Amino acid sequence: MDKTKVLVTGGAGFIGGNFVQHMVSKYPEYEVYNLDFLTYAGDLSKHISIEDKDNYYFVKADIADRETIYNLFKEKEFEYVVHFAAESHVDRSISEPEIFIKTNVLGTQVLLDAAKAVGVKKFVHISTDEVYGELDFDPTTFFTEDTPLQPNSPYSASKASSDLLVRAYHETFGLPVNITRCSNNYGPYHFPEKLIPLTISRALNDQRVPVYGNGQNIRDWLHVLDHCKAIDLVMHKGNDGEVYNVGGHNEKTNLEVVKTIINALGKSTDLIEYVEDRLGHDKRYAIDPTKLEKLGWVPEYSFNSGISQTIEWYLSNEEWWTNIINGEYQNYFNKQYNLT
Ligand code: NAD
Ligand code: TYD
Repeated sequence: MDKTKVLVTGGAGFIGGNFVQHMVSKYPEYEVYNLDFLTYAGDLSKHISIEDKDNYYFVKADIADRETIYNLFKEKEFEYVVHFAAESHVDRSISEPEIFIKTNVLGTQVLLDAAKAVGVKKFVHISTDEVYGELDFDPTTFFTEDTPLQPNSPYSASKASSDLLVRAYHETFGLPVNITRCSNNYGPYHFPEKLIPLTISRALNDQRVPVYGNGQNIRDWLHVLDHCKAIDLVMHKGNDGEVYNVGGHNEKTNLEVVKTIINALGKSTDLIEYVEDRLGHDKRYAIDPTKLEKLGWVPEYSFNSGISQTIEWYLSNEEWWTNIINGEYQNYFNKQYNLT
């Protein structure tokens, strides 16, 4: 009997990479195809432990390349598509928004067309809570699946646009879709442009850690493996056409996060440097995950256990992130930050 074929886009990145590893080890009866264009954010070194498994395949392709994507779907007839591939960094979307539209919007539309052409069993679109815009600091307010979409950054606007296309392909063509909207992830293989791995890598090297504005903006942190479990559940049990928010009630100010890491590493909080605020910086994100919990999702990590595990991972895998920060990343960092 043919094995179930699962296409994971963006599987060389942070969350997609963790998800690919989760799927390859949990479902030997599936064939897992990792399709990735290997942009600055993608690397295959993270998959050394699975690259020789006979249920893992890699395809290098741009999701916006219609012909290549169509041919691949026709050849493989995937049953599941789990779509992570995206430009994902808010700061980059502020300095160079165009690629966000090409990859996140047009790329998603190409995948939707291809999925429709072969008739997939489920298309899971990995989105973000940032499409809802921002909350104020009232701790009793949360994003639910019914919160109106009010994206504030070019990144979140491109994700909201792709969410609407996914919804439209369900409403118009009956494509079986789910959209997941997760809060900020952290964990192994997080690219060091994002707050948590940036803080860990810089503090370990006794370098200044940039905090935007007054550091009081709030994010709701979820360990990446809890996100992967949620996607696995939605992929197999989600009701067609539904949106599921993913988050574990781990709200922290940015300053709390940075200080926790610096203290855990035994470094001085004098490393913190307050820098110019991000343009349009969303104040607070916080998820109400009730709908997903009703589907059966239970997160494993608290922020404390997750951040300890993550710091340990960065300490044990220094070569992975050192290779990144010694490359092209240096130019990005110098352009983005003007640190003393
Ligand atoms: P990432 O930037 O680490 O990885 C993105 C991956 O997509 C990379 O491997 C990259 O090479 C690939 N890619 C980019 N453009 C491509 C293209 N045109 N064709 C094929 N592959 C391409 O991102 P991430 O943090 O792992 O996020 C994955 C998804 O999850 C994104 O859709 C993002 O919007 C969403 N999300 C992220 C978070 C978070 O906290 N990081 C939270 C919620 C949702
Ligand atoms: P980030 O990790 O970029 O995720 P997102 O913008 O998707 O939430 O940023 C998390 C928070 O940390 C956000 O409020 C911006 C802030 N931040 C800093 O204060 N300094 C930094 O150098 C970075 C990258 C982010």
